[in-house]
Amino acid sequence: MDRKEFISQLGIGAAFVLTSTCLGGCLRESRVIDDVNLVVDLNNPDFAALTQPGGFITTEGVVVAQTFSGEYVAATMTCSHDQEDKIIFDSTGNKWFCTEHSAEFSLEGDGLNATGSKGLTVFTVEHDQNNGTLKIFS
Ligand code: FES
Repeated sequence: MDRKEFISQLGIGAAFVLTSTCLGGCLRESRVIDDVNLVVDLNNPDFAALTQPGGFITTEGVVVAQTFSGEYVAATMTCSHDQEDKIIFDSTGNKWFCTEHSAEFSLEGDGLNATGSKGLTVFTVEHDQNNGTLKIFS
């Protein structure tokens, strides 16, 4: 390989690395979900955790939980701190929690510590007890 070929290949490699980095960042930004309209069927065995107080599931970028008081709540899985899809329901604290860097959010989405200071997008949940479904929307 001569010098010209080496520089040519290096340029392609560097462009690939830069492009990959940029695309990765752009994709992470686009994962933040603000507009949600979905239905969760509580009769579906995949969502059985929601029939227990303190249980939660994740579906389509959303975390859905039943609190110990029997209320259904929902929030985006994507943390506002570093856009990681690591939000879970912390039943012992009755709050949203990010397993990546420990951000904490109230059920209303308010930040409870420094890493959670940007807040969290939460959604409205309507429980239809007649057909056993949860309608989740923004
Ligand atoms: S990504 Fe959630 S606390 Fe950092």
